[in-house]
Amino acid sequence: MKKVFIETYGCQMNEYDTELVKSILKSNEYEFTQNEADADVILMNTCAIREGAHTKMYARLGDLKRFRQENKKLVVGLLGCMAQNLRGDLERSENIVDIYAGPDSYKRLPEMIESVRAGSKKEYDFSLSEFEDYSDVYPERVPGVKGWIAVMRGCDNFCTFCVVPYTRGRERSRTLESVVGEAEKLAADGFKQVTLLGQNVNSYKSNGTDFADLMVGVAGVDGIERVRFTSPHPKDFPDKFLQVMAENPKICSHIHLPLQAGNDRVLEIMSRSYTKHDFLRLVDKIRNTVPGVKLSTDVIVGFPTETDEEFEDTLDVLRQVEFDSAFMFKYSQRKDTIAYRKYADDVCDDKKTERIVKVNELQKVHSLNRNQAEIRAELAVLIEGPSKRTDEQWMGRTDGNKVVVLDKGDFQKGDMVCVEITGATANTLFGKHVGRFADRQRANIKSNQREKNGEIPGA
Ligand code: 5AD
Ligand code: SF4
Repeated sequence: MKKVFIETYGCQMNEYDTELVKSILKSNEYEFTQNEADADVILMNTCAIREGAHTKMYARLGDLKRFRQENKKLVVGLLGCMAQNLRGDLERSENIVDIYAGPDSYKRLPEMIESVRAGSKKEYDFSLSEFEDYSDVYPERVPGVKGWIAVMRGCDNFCTFCVVPYTRGRERSRTLESVVGEAEKLAADGFKQVTLLGQNVNSYKSNGTDFADLMVGVAGVDGIERVRFTSPHPKDFPDKFLQVMAENPKICSHIHLPLQAGNDRVLEIMSRSYTKHDFLRLVDKIRNTVPGVKLSTDVIVGFPTETDEEFEDTLDVLRQVEFDSAFMFKYSQRKDTIAYRKYADDVCDDKKTERIVKVNELQKVHSLNRNQAEIRAELAVLIEGPSKRTDEQWMGRTDGNKVVVLDKGDFQKGDMVCVEITGATANTLFGKHVGRFADRQRANIKSNQREKNGEIPGA
């Protein structure tokens, strides 16, 4: 059996794709190793979202050269978004790579590897498909508490900064039956939480079913205790979707709602399809419909032509919403995108740094406020594993996706426990367990939490 070493960069979708690749290779009699020096095949599943992702990859390819020198028969493959984004350019700059395969070509990998082993110099496949959804491949997962399911692939939004429509092609959804079937297998394998993935996950549609139907279907699977999803686009929030979130105790009350920018002109040239006002109204609607919901976001600073005054609108939205957490990025020009073709990257790096520092300082205050507001609340926590700092404590997450650290007690990974929150920093909650957990208690805890937030007066 040939040994494969595979490394993953980028988002959860890429983690999922690596699990697909492993499954495809395993059924073609490959096995896996954690040690590059031991491998016959080294695969890098790459990301292209910002230049930093590319820089990291070039450095890694430099590293791999020594394995190539030690093992002349070694096969090196570059998979995923960066391979797709750079296509021919990469070949000129990195001669240690034998195989280039974009995100829709993974079923051809065994054949491509064999061709290279048989003497072919290079193998490429950059074809993007309107249909490939890998529904017929069951991912090879590391056993654990949390599993991912890609429910749709690709993106048709064409936000002007974003490379994803070019690296992952057109939007396509899997059938509800295939997603629910995969969730049933996950539950049978002991997973407790499913995260539904898609580049625009709430645009999911298949044979008359929508994303709300899909969430209800997955939440109905015995053994699955929590359903999450990422990432939605603010354009697709029908009442039914929020209603289902509010009513179904297994669907977690957390929404990652990417803002990107707060100024109307900037949003327009990003092609985000909403204004500052629309976004704020959507936040109100979400908070009024899904009690106790937690919100996180993504922000880009320094999009071409963004002025200091326009950037103030981003800060203004952050102040008005007070997100629970936020990821912030300096604009990074990406090959192929509309912004790349239309605009110079004209906000200098110092200015981007100055803006990101402001976003970061503001968000730290908001995250701390939001987390401190949880002190004394009793929350349901799903235990994921040992805490980062010490093996003596567990780390778990609340329904709202906040990290909680607690003493180990006699609990196990995968247990759902009731935790009273006793302390908070901007990133972490600390708590003590006050008991185990049954479904009915869980509903009570959700309502306790809502009462505490003043959302169910007198409940
Ligand atoms: N530059 C900076 N950030 C970007 N993102 C996507 N494309 C770019 C880019 N060209 C950010 C967005 C998105 C997150 C996944 O990455 O905020 O929501
Ligand atoms: Fe994921 Fe986007 Fe990076 Fe591709 S480019 S791996 S879709 S984050």
